[in-house]
Amino acid sequence: MRMSEQDIQNLKQRLKEANYTEKAIGQRLGVPDIVFLDSRLLPQFYFNCERVDDPLSTLIKLFLLQSGLSRREVSAVLGRECIAALSLCGILHRESGLLYSNVALFPCLEQLLFTDHWFTAGQEEGHVYELGMDSYALVRLTHRGGRKKALDLCTGSGVHAIQSAFAGCRSTAIDINPRALQYAEFNAAFNSSEVEILESNLYTKLKGQTFDLITVNPPFVPSTDKDMLVHRTPGESGEEVSERLVAGLPEHLEEGGLFSMILNYPIITNDSYLDRLERWLGQDKGWVINNVLLQVTPVGVYIKEHIYFKDGYYENFNEHLESYSRMGIEGIGFANVFIQRVHPDIPNHKKEIRTVMPTDCKRENFKDWLSTQALFGNPNFIPDPKSKPRFSPYFATLWRDQQMTKGLLEPQMDNFIPGERIDGEQAELLARMDGEATSEELLQRWIEDGREENAFYRAYRDLGLNFAIEYGQDET
Ligand SMILES: C[S@@+](CC[C@H](N)C(=O)[O-])C[C@H]1O[C@@H](n2cnc3c(N)ncnc32)[C@H](O)[C@@H]1O
Repeated sequence: MRMSEQDIQNLKQRLKEANYTEKAIGQRLGVPDIVFLDSRLLPQFYFNCERVDDPLSTLIKLFLLQSGLSRREVSAVLGRECIAALSLCGILHRESGLLYSNVALFPCLEQLLFTDHWFTAGQEEGHVYELGMDSYALVRLTHRGGRKKALDLCTGSGVHAIQSAFAGCRSTAIDINPRALQYAEFNAAFNSSEVEILESNLYTKLKGQTFDLITVNPPFVPSTDKDMLVHRTPGESGEEVSERLVAGLPEHLEEGGLFSMILNYPIITNDSYLDRLERWLGQDKGWVINNVLLQVTPVGVYIKEHIYFKDGYYENFNEHLESYSRMGIEGIGFANVFIQRVHPDIPNHKKEIRTVMPTDCKRENFKDWLSTQALFGNPNFIPDPKSKPRFSPYFATLWRDQQMTKGLLEPQMDNFIPGERIDGEQAELLARMDGEATSEELLQRWIEDGREENAFYRAYRDLGLNFAIEYGQDET
């Protein structure tokens, strides 16, 4: 597939004029977010597009609903030249007098990504993964600015490699599926991004290479089904690929670097996910490990959503149930795992938070949250005496009980951080942090009140980890 720069600009202009954006598409289809493209809702999607006859509906039908449209209808939106260019490079084809798109087209922030059609997923060998909820979550949660060398493993359409290149990183994209790499290459050119494309089984071809950002949306569905495709399942535990990815970090992630992985993972009796991630890393110092849990799905619901309705459906369902029970899987988490590499002498810090799937870009917020985890996760953290900590803007208020033995942080309305319970000492210290008093003065008053110095540092650090304070170090 090749398109001239002029044809690319022409198509982008037409898409822009039709408002072919994540938000507008979600609204037109009647779902809260584009991530809810679900084949069970196809009748609703067709209905909504037929009801409003405008360029956006035409483009959605063509590129997302795989409809055959008359040349006249498509021409009214894209123009004849654009149709000719898209036909020449194999994106459009004609069948029984109608025009069809061979590929899906997803808007994603400022980018546009071609993939295989989303509701044929699982039916063809070499299928290139559409932009799913997982793809959008990783895009919306991972901050890339200021990073230099980015690696995107399991790149599929190249979406994350292109996002990183757009943010100014030198970007490398890897996939095991050569067809995916053709899409990634085309998408990079289409989005005027420079991405190095490499066919490799995870890190195999990267011996000795390091990066300061590694993104990945790996295959993760636990399954014994040999027919399930490579973009979906890595094997029975669902963790064969993610384990190798994490185990490769000591070799490939630089100090100060960030690993961001979106996935479904098995929730296993008596084996916390954070502990498992740490075990795979194989080091107990130098890492901050965070699990941002977005959703938990019961086993039966998850299986139903991930096996295909074909002959032997019930046997297949039962085989999955048996396999999940054998593996001790009691539910499936949907999460973004962030692993930061810090100074090798600092003991590991691990924390999980529960939040919801972001409906818009939350990169800046997670950048802030991750830097507080790295800063306060260090057990030897001592505040800069001149820093002026204040109540975090991410929370609306601090509630305290009558006996002053505990507190509750009430999040702002649109906050991604859940309300946190804090203990009496944290609540006391937070109440004193007015943005005027320096950390040195706060400590002095704390001790004058007969309180322990150690308790001051402990409460300070815990408040930091709870995202309850703005540290105010910049003003010193
Ligand atoms: C869930 S898709 C993710 C695609 C894309 N990154 C996204 O977020 O939309 C998983 C991708 O992993 C690739 N993959 C599976 N096993 C792999 C391996 N061992 N090494 C490299 N890529 C692999 C598949 O070909 C597929 O493109």
